[in-house]
Amino acid sequence: MEPLIAEYKKAFLNCTHQTARNRANSLKQTFQALANATDEDELADVYGSGDVITDFEEEIAKLLGKERAVFLPSGTMAQPIALKVWADRSGRPYVAMHATSHLQLHEHNAFQTLYNLKGVTVGNVHQVPSLDDIRAAAHDPLAAILWELPMREIGGQLPKWDDLVEQTHWAQKQGIRCHMDGARLWQCTEYYLKTLADISALFDSVYVSFYKDLGGISGAVLAGDEAFIDSAKIWIRRAGGNLYSLAPYVVAAREGLKQHFPDIPNRVKQAQWLATQFNNAEGMSTWPLEPQTNMFRLRIHTSPKEFLAKAATWMTENKVAVITPPYEMGEDYCLSELTIGDAFGELTEEQWSKHINSFLANCL
Ligand SMILES: Cc1ncc(COP(=O)(O)O)c(C=O)c1O
Repeated sequence: MEPLIAEYKKAFLNCTHQTARNRANSLKQTFQALANATDEDELADVYGSGDVITDFEEEIAKLLGKERAVFLPSGTMAQPIALKVWADRSGRPYVAMHATSHLQLHEHNAFQTLYNLKGVTVGNVHQVPSLDDIRAAAHDPLAAILWELPMREIGGQLPKWDDLVEQTHWAQKQGIRCHMDGARLWQCTEYYLKTLADISALFDSVYVSFYKDLGGISGAVLAGDEAFIDSAKIWIRRAGGNLYSLAPYVVAAREGLKQHFPDIPNRVKQAQWLATQFNNAEGMSTWPLEPQTNMFRLRIHTSPKEFLAKAATWMTENKVAVITPPYEMGEDYCLSELTIGDAFGELTEEQWSKHINSFLANCL
């Protein structure tokens, strides 16, 4: 299967149009655009001081309705630190999160091994957690609960607004801190019809990312009250995250926020339109059936061997990518994740319809 996947990925990367993701730029294009977005007299920050970084931190704190914010290299660094601060504050090591949380799946358990925290799993692996799930997880005395909004591994689903309010209020009443993994928080305003600050107001601490939907290079922000940020900064320094300069990441984040965030409601509609095209086709279904954000997962009921070979040939001939490379395959299925970025809008829905119909007719 490996050569077939490699072939699929190669054909995918050579396409000139793609339904999912942001347009891929060369390094030169990226650096030139960032240089153009920098004022003549702007200077790099030094260890986190300097207008370039502090102005941006203030902008994000305001956008999220929090007292303070700190910019740091990654979410993988940010979130165990947020949970550690809450654990130290409460004197309890237990922190709860869903089984599909990035901390559980993709960080080699750093929150437990590096920070001596103890993880408690919330809810069912395939579902958005309920208040009952959260209550059940709180049999250990919890310092904090982490909510991921939206939940990437289950197709970008979100708890209903009233449920989220009920859950976070319940936790706060028990003295449990609420932390948001908002790596893709930018995607949520359309579903909730709330501002970023309205959503963040339910949480004591918030992490956001700048390189996923917003197309930055890397980088994250932690936001919360002043005492939280002061404590987080000590751990960031200990973890090696207080870089000599973060300016390139900050400028990219600043530009990404300007360029991409206003277009996200539009991308949610495009994701819903695209999901409908797939759900109307034989042998395909999306999860969720109607996307709540600009991302969803796609199940193709097919033999991967045949599908990968036919799709690679079709992409090579048409230079159009309809489906991202699968992240999981079984004997008779393929699973892909699609996040709508700025690439989709380069073609009209009518043009996309033609490509999708031709792709499906030839590859399934
Ligand atoms: C939901 C979620 N949280 C956290 C992270 C970690 O972000 P970073 O790559 O900045 O460490 C990711 C990265 O993909 C993510 O998807």
